[in-house]
Amino acid sequence: MSNNQRVLLPGASVGVIGGGQLGRYFVLEARRLGYVTWVLDPSENAPAVQVAEHKLIAAYDDAESLQTLADACDAVTIEFENVPAESLDQISGSTRVAPDKAAVEIAQDRHAEKQTARHFGLTTAPYALIESVDDIDAAAADVAFPAILKTSRLGYDGKGQQNCNSVDDVRAAFEEVDSVPCVLEQRIDLHCELSVVLARGADGQIACFPVAENVHANGILDTTRVPSSEPTSLLREAQQLASELANGLSYEGVLAVEFFVDRNRQVLFNEMAPRPHNSGHYTLDATITSQFEQQLRVLCNLPLGPVDLLSPVCMLNVLGDSWPDDGSPNWDAVLAEPGAHLHLYGKGEARPGRKMGHINCLAADAPTALALAHRLKSQLAH
Ligand SMILES: Nc1ncnc2c1ncn2[C@@H]1O[C@H](COP(=O)(O)OP(=O)(O)O)[C@@H](O)[C@H]1O
Ligand SMILES: [Mg+2]
Repeated sequence: MSNNQRVLLPGASVGVIGGGQLGRYFVLEARRLGYVTWVLDPSENAPAVQVAEHKLIAAYDDAESLQTLADACDAVTIEFENVPAESLDQISGSTRVAPDKAAVEIAQDRHAEKQTARHFGLTTAPYALIESVDDIDAAAADVAFPAILKTSRLGYDGKGQQNCNSVDDVRAAFEEVDSVPCVLEQRIDLHCELSVVLARGADGQIACFPVAENVHANGILDTTRVPSSEPTSLLREAQQLASELANGLSYEGVLAVEFFVDRNRQVLFNEMAPRPHNSGHYTLDATITSQFEQQLRVLCNLPLGPVDLLSPVCMLNVLGDSWPDDGSPNWDAVLAEPGAHLHLYGKGEARPGRKMGHINCLAADAPTALALAHRLKSQLAH
């Protein structure tokens, strides 16, 4: 049996490239299940490095450390999509790697990602590629204003995005990002935003977590509520579209797909992440299997875990903004609340916009969970 199909049981060694919070939960879940864990990250203090048994402190393209990781681990996954594709190439000869390089490369590039989604039958917001100033006039003719210029690569949490109301705005915005490749995307009049986190195994079996309804503030995820208040038919459609994308890519691993829903209730592909996702953090407390256990299960060729929702939930992101100038947020208020489950990532410096942790608010229904999240948010900074 090839490296890629072998079932890896507890006691096997698993590795993750990237040491952020997503890697941290992968490691914690893997350790809970009795696996030996490795993390590769340049920072000694990274959230996942703090909790792993074995740490490789090195750049993501450090050939020697990658080889050590590959030799030590029965399987390796990633915690963020900007791991260099060559690094995955290097190790895939000697250990199991999931997701594969092809999917990761697509997810590194907004344009490739949108093209791929369209190729597999999904609809996107109208957009145009801008690779040089010469493309701007044609792009502005194709895409109605207001629009958003987004760098094709390396954007996250709204970074690398600028609002544009005219072709002159696009020119200025393109210059502002040093003329790196961008997409100009029409601003959608949003009814809501949904995301689907799913796992697809090597055998093609798919398990979709319950659809998340997301609210962003300043381009950063603020809350995720589950179940969504949208009609079941719309939620099914989102799951169906995400599954078609995963099948089209012959994807192996956990995949997150973000959707816009416009005023006509059209479900538009926004972007994908080849890994667990912030909007799936609610699964840590509210589903039988978490998205991180699912990531481990796919990596180890185990059966996918059940994704049933145990309780309505609202996840609230805790950003550095909640830290007062001196001291800590009001954790007392959170910890006094029976439905609130606090998660902190062990990050040192609390900067505005930095994701420091999250709170999963469980309640009898999603509106009550959302109200609790809002109340805790307002209490945190006092
Ligand atoms: N075309 C758009 N129309 C309306 N809102 C948008 C659009 N593009 C981005 N946004 C808003 O900004 C958020 C972040 O944008 P996104 O493209 O997902 O980038 P990131 O990689 O930073 O998450 C979205 O979730 C949405 O709230
Ligand atoms: Mg996004």
